Amino acid sequence: MAIGILLVGGMGTRLKPLTNQTPKPMLPVGGLPVTERQLLAAKKAGINSVILATSYLSEVFTPYFGDGSKWGMKLLYAVEKEPLGTGGAIRNAADLIDFADATEEFVIFNGDVLSGHDIAAQIAFHKANKADATLHLIEVADARAFGCVPTDSTGRVLDFLEKMENPVTNAINAGCYVFNPSVISQIPEGKVVSIERETFPQLVKSARPVFGYNEQSYWLDIGTPAALFQGSRDIVGEGFIAGSGSVIGQNSVITGGTSIGQGSTIGANCKITNSIIGDGVSIGDNCSIADSFILHNSHLASASEIIGKYISPTENLPISL
Ligand code: GDD
Ligand code: MG
Repeated sequence: MAIGILLVGGMGTRLKPLTNQTPKPMLPVGGLPVTERQLLAAKKAGINSVILATSYLSEVFTPYFGDGSKWGMKLLYAVEKEPLGTGGAIRNAADLIDFADATEEFVIFNGDVLSGHDIAAQIAFHKANKADATLHLIEVADARAFGCVPTDSTGRVLDFLEKMENPVTNAINAGCYVFNPSVISQIPEGKVVSIERETFPQLVKSARPVFGYNEQSYWLDIGTPAALFQGSRDIVGEGFIAGSGSVIGQNSVITGGTSIGQGSTIGANCKITNSIIGDGVSIGDNCSIADSFILHNSHLASASEIIGKYISPTENLPISL
């Protein structure tokens, strides 16, 4: 079975202040961290062993995921003291195992993507083409913020152009790659390397078989506050969801795709809309909350008015969605 590598070490700068205390992939969408949703998707495709490539706030992952047995998976952690970039992170993670002798493919995931695509079909496409690398591609209206990936009629990748002003196609790198071990061997060890700006262009230039797997399914990069809230609303739907052990007081009205984590308490007569509320949060009576992110274990006094805010146990900062 293929081995997964999740790239979860980025700084999440565009998501600040939401990433002040939480690495981007651990932010909850629809009540579960993005990373957990990705692990579930990987498992569905038969990937049971996954290496988490961590750097920024690396200490947050292990207490939550442990050895993975809770999910019936085997998890390993590769920690970069200094971020090694996407390529360096892949190499560093693969070095935890005897990857050069591996007969299986590696499946690499950008850790900030919610994708409904069929990972098993992507792996099958990779094998059918005898490819060295196969990238999931999707079409977007504006490709400028992404890796632009032109292909020929057979799906063979002709070029890889990371974040260009005048995109040559709307097909972009959706952030999920199937790699043969030989591709990982090519990434230099212990160095900062960008898979997008260095490895992919080199592979294409040296005429290695790199393919694009097109599947236009649900896809979202949660890299900004607006996108994170969108992703959470997409999972929740119109109303709200609340995790196990959460209690909602009388006459409280919760709408707009709000998600509430586990073991949180909402007082009576509250109005909450379009918000993300973590685990173990306590909110007093008569509160009004809109367009806000309330981090795990935060406390809000009765009659609080919270509009467009990031609240943590130690911070209260504005956010714009
Ligand atoms: N371990 C580790 N170390 N992870 C990293 C590092 C690092 O040094 N740098 C980035 N990452 C992780 C981030 O946490 C994120 O999950 C993923 O790598 C991609 O980084 P982003 O910073 O989110 O990149 P992007 O969104 O601008 O662009 C990438 O994703 C697009 C699709 O969403 C590129 O891969 C584009 O080509 C692609 O289109
Ligand atoms: Mg991203």
